[in-house]
Amino acid sequence: MKVVVLGANGQVGHELVGALAPCAEVTALGRRGGDLADLDGLRETLRALRPDAVVNAASYNDVDAAEREPHAALRVNRDAVELLGREALHLRFALVHYSTDFVFDGRGKRPYVETDEPSPLGAYGRSKLAGERALEALGAPAIVFRTAWVYSLRRKSFVSTMLKLGRSRPHLRVVSDQVGSPTFCRDLAVATALVLHRHRDGAFEAFLEARGIYHLAGSGAVSRAELARATLALARHPEGQPIAEVEDVPTSAFPLPAARPAYAPLDGEKTRTRLGVALPPWRESLARALADEERP
Ligand SMILES: NC(=O)c1ccc[n+]([C@@H]2O[C@H](COP(=O)([O-])OP(=O)(O)OC[C@H]3O[C@@H](n4cnc5c(N)ncnc54)[C@H](OP(=O)(O)O)[C@@H]3O)[C@@H](O)[C@H]2O)c1
Repeated sequence: MKVVVLGANGQVGHELVGALAPCAEVTALGRRGGDLADLDGLRETLRALRPDAVVNAASYNDVDAAEREPHAALRVNRDAVELLGREALHLRFALVHYSTDFVFDGRGKRPYVETDEPSPLGAYGRSKLAGERALEALGAPAIVFRTAWVYSLRRKSFVSTMLKLGRSRPHLRVVSDQVGSPTFCRDLAVATALVLHRHRDGAFEAFLEARGIYHLAGSGAVSRAELARATLALARHPEGQPIAEVEDVPTSAFPLPAARPAYAPLDGEKTRTRLGVALPPWRESLARALADEERP
């Protein structure tokens, strides 16, 4: 199976290349070679490669910058995604795409299911929702995994930042009124590889039949402050190094250009029953992610 990974240098993209290696012939494209802002170039690349599947892990992800430059976000998160959907139909490849909990406003009282009405609070969420809708309108052979709070220790993420700050300061102030489903990028990549591998014969037809939105994030829900505490408690610390105290603060303590959903855990039941994959409880994955870390 020939698989193209777009955004191969990102948190998820990097892990995808490793997770797919045992079961696919992988072409890993970063910004160079696979620029989603260059629609003509992207079309040409796909037509030259003629893959069986494309996994789009590239995204305009800067939630705050998107408020200043919504068109740049739309180009990558809507226009390029629409092009991928069109090319998937034209070249008959299966498409995996990722979307976000930020399509929701976070005012719910229970984890979101796929049929809940999206209502994004900002430009990033609107651009990701527009990408979902473009694929749906085309009837593209696309599985869209909505995920949340993705972290790696390799690139800057909430978890890697807490680790760094928690090791250099005695006291951290972290928001406690945002609750979500932390997702280890490797878990997401492995689940994606399993779904592709299961459909390696006839991926196009299988994805056409299964097309739609699927929630796929770490199981359970936690506040950002609690996640920071869990990260520091599970991390290895050099002898004698104090572990920072984490103080709960409200979101209003850190004013940012884009509003964040307050309560947006994702319910993964549909994904478990229809696709046969579910991610482990967030705390287990966090422990695994931190166990891999080099001793500081
Ligand atoms: N991170 C989260 O908390 C989170 C939450 C919910 C959903 N998601 C979704 O999960 C998916 C994977 O996210 P991630 O956490 O792996 O993100 P990431 O680490 O920020 O990776 C995104 C990748 O996209 C690349 N990229 C940006 N603009 C591009 C362009 N015009 N052309 C080609 N590549 C471009 C980036 O390139 P550079 O390496 O050059 O920066 C980066 O490698 C995305 O669809 C995202 O929306 C993420």
